[in-house]
Amino acid sequence: MTAEKLVELALQARENAYAPYSNFKVGAALETSSGKVFAGCNVENSTYGLTVCAERVALWKAISEGEREFVSIAVVAGSERLVYPCGACRQLLWEFCGNIEVILASTQRHRETRRLADLLPSPFDRSLL
Ligand code: THU
Repeated sequence: MTAEKLVELALQARENAYAPYSNFKVGAALETSSGKVFAGCNVENSTYGLTVCAERVALWKAISEGEREFVSIAVVAGSERLVYPCGACRQLLWEFCGNIEVILASTQRHRETRRLADLLPSPFDRSLL
């Protein structure tokens, strides 16, 4: 799948974001090695701390459907600047996806493609246990 198509699917998921507290809507689309896509949006909560990021919603959807091999994730936010996954999401993505491609996009058509290892250098993982 092209990066642009994955970004488009993340943009669509972003439409469903539940972000009444931050008004900061995020969408993510996670592509499996077989070409399936699991998309998610951020889901906030009045307690704030129970908020779940878009990346995690997409990841949990895929994992709970039995998927285990991933190639890329697109993350789209509405701000002018690109939004990078938070530290917790980087760690969780590393656990299940390893060094996948991370496509960062804004609704203003800014784009950047990175590898997860660039965003999470020297990760803690099972190889250290
Ligand atoms: N958020 C995401 O969904 N993904 C990110 O990569 C960064 C932050 C959400 C969480 C919260 O609902 C809002 O953005 C503001 O932090």
